[in-house]
Amino acid sequence: MQPTKGIILAGGSGTRLYPITKGISKQLMPIYDKPMVYYPLTTLIQAGIREILIITTPEDSAAFQRLLGDGSQWGLMLHYAVQPRPEGLAQAFLISADFVGDSPVALVLGDNIFDGHGFTAALTQRRETGGTIFAYEVSDPQRYGVVEFAADGRALSIEEKPAQPKSNHAVVGLYFYDNSVLDIAKTIAPSARGELEITAINEEYLRRGQLHVQRMQRGDVWLDTGTIDSMSEAASYVEVLQKRTGAIIGSPEVAAFEAGFITRQALLDLAAPLRKSGYGLYLEAAASDGGVQAPC
Ligand code: DAU
Repeated sequence: MQPTKGIILAGGSGTRLYPITKGISKQLMPIYDKPMVYYPLTTLIQAGIREILIITTPEDSAAFQRLLGDGSQWGLMLHYAVQPRPEGLAQAFLISADFVGDSPVALVLGDNIFDGHGFTAALTQRRETGGTIFAYEVSDPQRYGVVEFAADGRALSIEEKPAQPKSNHAVVGLYFYDNSVLDIAKTIAPSARGELEITAINEEYLRRGQLHVQRMQRGDVWLDTGTIDSMSEAASYVEVLQKRTGAIIGSPEVAAFEAGFITRQALLDLAAPLRKSGYGLYLEAAASDGGVQAPC
């Protein structure tokens, strides 16, 4: 089995955040003390993924590369690709076909934030065949992909932004697929709104009886930062949690250390130039807390 490769989809038009995103990519904007893209990147690292493709708009690619580099500072291999126009989430698998090769693949949306110990532990226990997606109970399901469950917990249907949702279970923006996703992506047609929908991919796995839908647990946190209000709520969440617990959320440095991708000394070296903003102090605290002692 090849190691899973990761994709962060960080393009899109950002029109829901205009005028802010007229001058800057949404996924480079701050969520409290770090750029938004750090959070989904951290999630992929927590899933044990080291080789990651970042898909951006053509205009924003240079800024992402300036921020994240080649990833070697975090024990990663980062690659970049562009999506000329926002033609749908599933297009990520057409753009990334050469990068993915014959590996399994994880896709995370560049504006999704995940937190919770149970959830990060579950990330490393995913299945190797078919698709694995996650459902989270929300009060406004019509904004999302919605999954309907049978009484025995099996997924029955998935619909994209239904006017009359069959449940309150939203599909979150983190998807694990086996390599057949590359072929499935080639077969789907644009939806009524003109996009290649990730929901169409999930429907195909469901039709094949190969879609595993994992419900996120109480204590797991999912925040979609797609609107001004949700962005500001996410920033408050991160601020309060970090100040109360002293532990940082969404830090690729700390996740890389905990995953055994970098040494304690490397974490301390990364912390030193970041002390002035306070970010480095969290890294120093994490270095003294522990982390695995795996070879890097
Ligand atoms: O957040 C979870 C939801 O994400 C799922 O429940 C839905 O099933 C899924 O379709 C998606 O819905 P959204 O309405 O949130 O997708 P949105 O168009 O906002 O795009 C999500 C992110 O992906 C956003 O950061 C922009 C980026 N994007 C989007 C499109 C359509 C791209 O990079 N390229 C694209 O073509």
